Amino acid sequence: MKFKIKRFDGEKTWFDNFEIKHKPHMSVLEALFQIQDEQDTSLAFRYSCRGAVCGSCAMFINKKQRLACRTQVSEIAGEKVLAILPYGPVAKPVIKTGDDIIVEPLPNLPVIKDLIVDMDPFFRHYEAVKPGFEPEHQESKEASMSQDDVKKVDRYAACILCALCYGACPVSARDRDYLGPAALANAWRFYGDTRYHAKEEMLKRVNSKTGVWACDEVYRCVEVCPKQVPPTNAITGFMRKIILHEMKHIFG
Ligand code: SF4
Ligand code: FES
Repeated sequence: MKFKIKRFDGEKTWFDNFEIKHKPHMSVLEALFQIQDEQDTSLAFRYSCRGAVCGSCAMFINKKQRLACRTQVSEIAGEKVLAILPYGPVAKPVIKTGDDIIVEPLPNLPVIKDLIVDMDPFFRHYEAVKPGFEPEHQESKEASMSQDDVKKVDRYAACILCALCYGACPVSARDRDYLGPAALANAWRFYGDTRYHAKEEMLKRVNSKTGVWACDEVYRCVEVCPKQVPPTNAITGFMRKIILHEMKHIFG
């Protein structure tokens, strides 16, 4: 089985070809380990849990944003890859056929080396929305939530901060100031929490042309998320809340 891997050494970019010995149930991450162990010790990639929990092995595999530890080599060898277009469900041209597997770094983030990207811009946006409880707004006594209220935020709390959505987002690609899908999904997770009392401040943080109003609503983030988090739903939810909030101000 052939792997075509994009390399970067700080100055130049090129592709290297490797042949791997395929084993049953082998993941792309395991194939990268084999290449690193047996053919090129300088190949750089990031991982930690190997179990789709830490989010650190996010890559662009066969032109799709995927976790390397969760992607089976046998499932993607020879797959027909369609172009990912920023404008919704129209006929998509085929951009890849053939058996070789192409592995590239996650788009929309600066590359440090080979398949390792700099996650700083992603985490800067995440921190900008302050997705957490703010002590000055919280009650001192213990607060509990009903099961129904937990369900409303649970799917957003599943985010592992892998940045696959950020790497797939056409707005993040053209506007590096855009907060991005993961930051907004995590903001919504707290906004919807009945124990969170800084809701007005949160609306202010996301109500901008680099916040929710920048979204193209093409659902690419939802499509690639390995944890079924729906960032676009969070973004449209915020849009509705902002409009209601502003109408309340106008009409009292
Ligand atoms: S929303 Fe999904 S794709 Fe985006 S960072 Fe969280 S887990 Fe990853
Ligand atoms: S190594 Fe942790 S998600 Fe893949």
